[in-house]
Amino acid sequence: MLQGLSYERLLETSKRVNWRVEDIIGADKPMDFSKPFLPETFARTTELDFLSPAERLKLNQIRAFVYLAMFELVERCILPLIEDLAPSRPGQDPHRTPALAQFAAEEAKHIELFVRFRHAFVEGFDVDCGFIGPPEMIGEAIRAHTRLGLALFVLGIEWATQRHYVESVQDDQDLDPQFKSLLKNHWIEESQHAKLDALVFHELAARAGPEQIDQAIDDFLDIGAFIDGGLGQQAQLDLASLEAAIGRELSTVQREAFQAAQHQAMRWTFIGSALRNEGFLSAVGEVSPSGRAKLESVAPAFC
Ligand SMILES: [Fe+2]
Ligand SMILES: [Fe+2]
Repeated sequence: MLQGLSYERLLETSKRVNWRVEDIIGADKPMDFSKPFLPETFARTTELDFLSPAERLKLNQIRAFVYLAMFELVERCILPLIEDLAPSRPGQDPHRTPALAQFAAEEAKHIELFVRFRHAFVEGFDVDCGFIGPPEMIGEAIRAHTRLGLALFVLGIEWATQRHYVESVQDDQDLDPQFKSLLKNHWIEESQHAKLDALVFHELAARAGPEQIDQAIDDFLDIGAFIDGGLGQQAQLDLASLEAAIGRELSTVQREAFQAAQHQAMRWTFIGSALRNEGFLSAVGEVSPSGRAKLESVAPAFC
């Protein structure tokens, strides 16, 4: 997995594919609210057959709002970790620090991109949508884990974004070009991040003992369980947003079906798409075959 990966080449690629926020979003590039924003594989609205097509479209867009807010939150967790890891020790690859500094700068830019999209969404959507929080407390709870556990969490998230774009192409159902552009441009830079994360994770793991590596796997699962609890609450908020947007209340049975289906859809979007990613699993498996097996054993619950 690490074969052929070098800080120098990843830095070169990062500089070559780099984009500017102002080229992606602005007054001349509005979001088209007549189209879905998220791939159906993540939104999973069609199984809710008690919703009309127009109502499913609203739900798809609410889920896209949550995607923006969630990535803004997650990237605010990733940024300080990368900034913390960027200084190199004597004897390390001279391209390591510049590559990680570039990574951190891109993550700061991504936060700005997600904020700009979120504001554009709020301006264009009919109702205010709720989001779990406060985000600072969620970030604090995630960052309370070991450094190696956090590095593993970041590795998983970065690999998950690869799938988010690939599935938006494979599952192209006339998605809003703006949202698709967001997923694509994020993917373009995250491709390097996922590989840089693998280098950093292996570097940290090489200095850790077997107990610390086992702890990192447990930290990943603990962060996953914590986020999963938040996703359950988020599904309730999304139900309230949907009912406000469509101007009607669902029945008790429909609400229960909504909660179960949408919670599971978010599990797949934010956790399962990492746990089923071969790039992520390979990077973990090279450090800890038993850790990989443990992650694979819980994956079905998040799919
Ligand atoms: Fe990012
Ligand atoms: Fe990233």
